[in-house]
Order: sequence, then structure tokens, then C-alpha cells
Amino acid sequence: MAISKKARPFEWARKHLLGLRELSRDELLYVLDTAAGFEEVSKREVKKTPALRGKLIVNLFFEDSTRTRNSFTLAASRLSADVINFTSKESSVSKGESLLDTARNLEALGVDIVIIRHNAGGAPTFLSRNINACVVNAGDGYCEHPTQGLLDAYTIRKHKGGLKGLKIAIVGDIAHSRVARSDMWAMTKLGAEVIFVGPPTLMPAEVGKLPVTVSYSLDDCIEKIDVINMLRIQFERQSGNPFPSVREYSHYFGLTVDRMKRAKPDIMVMHPGPINRGLEMESEVADGKNSVILEQVSNGVAVRMAALFLVNQAAAQKATEK
Ligand code: CP
Repeated sequence: MAISKKARPFEWARKHLLGLRELSRDELLYVLDTAAGFEEVSKREVKKTPALRGKLIVNLFFEDSTRTRNSFTLAASRLSADVINFTSKESSVSKGESLLDTARNLEALGVDIVIIRHNAGGAPTFLSRNINACVVNAGDGYCEHPTQGLLDAYTIRKHKGGLKGLKIAIVGDIAHSRVARSDMWAMTKLGAEVIFVGPPTLMPAEVGKLPVTVSYSLDDCIEKIDVINMLRIQFERQSGNPFPSVREYSHYFGLTVDRMKRAKPDIMVMHPGPINRGLEMESEVADGKNSVILEQVSNGVAVRMAALFLVNQAAAQKATEK
């Protein structure tokens, strides 16, 4: 579907991408439009552009990742940057080195952009205040996962032409989900109605202050929604049991073939991954005709190319102003 690329009346000025809460609607659209341009690069025979040639990027990951880390690596490579892949398990963090010392040592190696995933909420913001390099948040605690929110919005926009007026359900473990929060900020700013769906025990304490409606029943909303984003139950972040049994959770909140029969024929089925097949969704749905789950992963490359390109451009602009 064609997307309007009207010139937007400002320049991108952020040298860090920390979250979507602080981004305006125009900034969100600017990233999505920039990503649309980079998607074209990924379709070329030679999938490279020299935009970040000579720049050094580090993937500073303190948590495991399949999609985010590999797609940032690919995005950096397509922009012709050099990439260091750092994982805390194989580093001197195990000997007691702090986050800041780690980042400063990487800066001493000439790093221009730090992409950080950390289980502590606020770690990317902390780094952005204490190092000179650009910082891009690849997921911090329960707080934000901005490039996931952007790639989700990008995927919906590609299919539906825009987000305005869409009803989007985000289902499951909202309380522990940084994806739910980044999605919520992006989707509501772009004009969608977001419904958080799940048991009360998996809703965030602050849900009443968020720009969403809440439903405790997937059956009550399945017929009226345009997009459904199923979240993984984050067992590794749970303390206590948020529901009596996995079977009971699946019965009430799982996206099953039977439930899909009641959904709109063109409902978009999304999942940020990794999927617990048979728990939050049946395999037939995850791999079915409404699923855009692997397309989300593909779109992540263009979106991350846009994020890296824009923060680098803002840093260069700020350097010339000094
Ligand atoms: N969606 C997502 O963040 O997946 P990874 O944990 O594999 O990066």
C-alpha cells in the first residue's frame, strides 16, 4: 500500500533513541518514512549504502536476543558501519566491571553508537548522560523497546496505509512487557485505539494512567479488533504465579484457531517473538494467512537502519554547532 511521503517541517535532532514516549507524532512518522527509504536498499542486489562508512557501532547486550541483535548487526552492515558484538556473558562484566566502565572502554576503542539491551530499566538513559557516543535502546527492563514499537507501527502502516482509527489489542503479559509500552506510545500517537487485554495480575499497576482501554476478556473484543499483538508470558520476570495454570491461561487468552474464526477476516496477527507456541497462540495461527510475524522481523532491518542513520546525523549536526 502506498504511503504519503510529505516533507515534514523539521529536522531530526535526537542523537539518542531511548524511548517512544518522548517522541512526537511527526518524529515517529519521520523515522517510518526514513525506514521506507532504507527498505529499498534491502531489495537491491548489492544491499549496501555508505551512509555510516567509517563509523563504529557496538551491540552491548546484557540479555539474550535473536531478532534485535541480529537485525541491528545487519542494519549496521547495510549502512557500511563496523560492528562489535558484545555479550555480557563473555566479557569482563563477569569479573565485576561496571556498565559505565564497560561503555567508556568501548568508547576508547572509537565507538560512535552504543546499542544497549539491559534488564535494568533506565540503563540506556543513564549511559546517554555519561558517554559521548549516541545511545540506542534495544530494550530496557519493562520500560521500552523503541525499535520494536517502530517496526510494529511500520508493519501495520504498510498493510493498512496508516494507524488512524484502528483498534489494536495487545494481549497477555503487559506488566512485564517493554514492547507493550513502546507499541502503546507509537500506536496511540499515530491515531490508533489500543486495548490492553489480559488477566488483572498481568496488567501494570499504572494502567489507569496510560492512554489505553483495558479488557480482561479476549472473547469480548476479538470480533472488533483490526490488529492483535500477542505477547509472550515472561516467566523469567515473574515472582509468584500470575494465573492458576498455563492451560487455563491459554483457554482464556490464547489466540486459537477457534477464536480466529470470530475475528475480522483481515485481522493482522502480530507477535514480537520469541513465541511460546501452544501457550499464547496456536501454531496454525502463528503460521497462518493473517500472521505478519516474520514480516515484522524483516521490517526491523529497515527501521533499525533508519534509527542508526538518524542518531548519527543528529550527532554530526550537534558536533558542527559546537
Ligand atoms: N522482539 C525481540 O526483542 O526479540 P529478541 O529478544 O529475540 O531480540
